[in-house]
Amino acid sequence: MQSDPSDQAITAQGWVKTKRDSKNVCFLEVSDGSSMKGLQIIIDKSSDISEESLALAATGAAVSCEGILVDSPAKGQKVEMQATALTIVGTVPAEDYPLQKKRHSFEFLREIAHLRPRTNTFGAVARVRNAMSTAIHGFFQERGFLYVHTPIITGSDTEGAGQMFQVTTLDLDNIPKTEEGKTDYSGDFFGKQTHMTVSGQLQVENYCCALGDVYTFGPTFRAENSNTTRHLAEFWMIEPEMAFCELEGNMELAEDFIKYILNYVLEHCSEDMDFFNQWVLKGVKDTLQSVVDTPFKHMTYTDAVAELEKVNDKFDFKVSWGCDLQTEHERYLTEELCQGPVIVTDYPKEIKAFYMKMNEDGKTVRAMDVLVPRLGEIIGGSQREEDFDKLKARIDEMGMDESEYWWYLDLRRFGTVPHSGFGLGFERLIQYVTGLGNIRDVIPFPRTVKTIDF
Ligand code: 4AD
Ligand code: MG
Repeated sequence: MQSDPSDQAITAQGWVKTKRDSKNVCFLEVSDGSSMKGLQIIIDKSSDISEESLALAATGAAVSCEGILVDSPAKGQKVEMQATALTIVGTVPAEDYPLQKKRHSFEFLREIAHLRPRTNTFGAVARVRNAMSTAIHGFFQERGFLYVHTPIITGSDTEGAGQMFQVTTLDLDNIPKTEEGKTDYSGDFFGKQTHMTVSGQLQVENYCCALGDVYTFGPTFRAENSNTTRHLAEFWMIEPEMAFCELEGNMELAEDFIKYILNYVLEHCSEDMDFFNQWVLKGVKDTLQSVVDTPFKHMTYTDAVAELEKVNDKFDFKVSWGCDLQTEHERYLTEELCQGPVIVTDYPKEIKAFYMKMNEDGKTVRAMDVLVPRLGEIIGGSQREEDFDKLKARIDEMGMDESEYWWYLDLRRFGTVPHSGFGLGFERLIQYVTGLGNIRDVIPFPRTVKTIDF
């Protein structure tokens, strides 16, 4: 579609998006998915193309068109094809093909997730998601970070929030029991209780403490029973980890990272971004550009709580020091108070994971969450506790099974260093970029409570 007109015969293959008929010509818009707009095919009714094949070239049909590219008089396209031959490939879609030329609701399209990539919106999401994946690797590779593949099946719980899916080959109709009447895992595949990972962090730290700057980017799983527009049971997470790096360096990387990805999408996906800007969230392009151009704000949890307490009557959950921030609080901070991304630091240790480095006050940890308008948290990270005794004490204090973490503790025994990292929820960032309101619409096949079709 970016080629110049030419007399050389070419072939274009794709699916018919629309068909318009007039007395002497028929217009097909044929798309192969490589861009938002399809190629316009002009079929002269006096040509050799039979009326029969024209009739079969209905919406959804796969076609192969031969012809030459000519200048297009129509607005918004450089060239169109003057067809000399049209072949219908495969069978013609049945009459109940659900994607007709009207706008369908996202709810309806979720029920036909196998066909929704054929729509403008889901085609655009797929291309933007692909571009963002490329940009993620580009960002880290340019900075010398090593990509590490952390395991999916794990024997440890990184976040300690009790939201893991269990993996087992035991016969659930006949569960072997120990003498105490508990499940006997000795006969299970791994000989012990095993789960799907909630984060690759603990493992990636091992590579960080040998190879310096590393990252993992893969699927993670959480059995949270939260039916919201921001939670999936299976989502992708990007987790960088840096050695000889404290919280400040970690926050700098997070800001640079987000800006790099937004900038990449604005530069490389302009047609798709124009579509989101027009049909999904008006002004989203300007918002992203202003995020790229503006330094992120920073505030401590303690200051954030002080601000939130001033407007406590706005909230369903009242805020006081020590409570976990809910989405409504996060959104107030980022949308109203800061009017842009904000990094909140130094949370109470009670509401954060065991591995975070303790501050000198003994009450707060060197955590950082990045909050953005519309979504709230999109990044969670911290400096890690590198002191063996303190980490061990924390594991004991939280009633965790120390023997499961011996290898993680070993990093603090052999050449321990300050190190830091974070996790970015990939789908939340895609929501932010595209303006889509529901996280189920930015992953090809969403897995949520009671949803596993496709
Ligand atoms: O804040 P979280 O739980 O942090 C971690 O897992 C750390 N181990 C990361 C690290 O330091 N290496 O999760 C990180 C991010 C969240 O900020 C959010 O964007 C996303 O992962 N996330 C989810 N996204 C979709 N659905 C869910 N159920 C999510 N839970 C977390
Ligand atoms: Mg978090």
